[in-house]
Amino acid sequence: APDETFAAPLLAWYDDHGRKDLPWQRDRSAYRVWLSEVMLQQTQVRTVIPYFERFVAALPDLRTLAEAPQDRVLALWSGLGYYSRARNLHRTAQICVAEHGAELPRDVEALSALPGIGRSTAAAILAQTWGERHAILDGNVRRVLARWHGLRGWPGETATQRELWRLAERHTPHERVADYTQAIMDLGATLCVRSRPHCLRCPVAPGCVALRDGLTAQLPARKPT
Ligand code: ADE
Repeated sequence: APDETFAAPLLAWYDDHGRKDLPWQRDRSAYRVWLSEVMLQQTQVRTVIPYFERFVAALPDLRTLAEAPQDRVLALWSGLGYYSRARNLHRTAQICVAEHGAELPRDVEALSALPGIGRSTAAAILAQTWGERHAILDGNVRRVLARWHGLRGWPGETATQRELWRLAERHTPHERVADYTQAIMDLGATLCVRSRPHCLRCPVAPGCVALRDGLTAQLPARKPT
């Protein structure tokens, strides 16, 4: 059974403080969630919002995106940076039209085989769109879990990475997976930030090993030199 000593207070915090009216949380579809997750990979929520709105207004579904000329897609992306994300998005839409009936596959393996969709993004798409139970592990979640468990290994090491996935899996609840997924990403983005985390306001501070041992500034560990 998942260990809910972490998820329960996190979900209670999300109910009071979480973001619940973001554009991709309304009219939820795999297309909108996918687009938002790709935009959010390297860009903050407040920057993403107007780009997301413009993008879905111009290209409202997967087929329209697939059939759009690449310069149109890149123009809609212009200003967000990391343009390989836009090229991968376009390519993925074309693959979905050719091979998946113009839908994003509802399957972690098939999703994470698509350009620009890693394991964590695939998991986030399925959790947020369909409420399926999948663990996520992006940079924010890595930081939260490394601190909470006082994990000293460098996350670039295979063994540490495996341990982080195991912990991510263990904390993922069976109920409210979409909210939990958003909650842990929001925690990492707003309170458990890299420098000067806001531990006084953190809902999971009572169990946090890094806070207890004065290690928040050291964790997650940096690449060994
Ligand atoms: N980073 C990646 N996905 C995110 C999301 N759904 N909310 C906030 N930050 C994110």
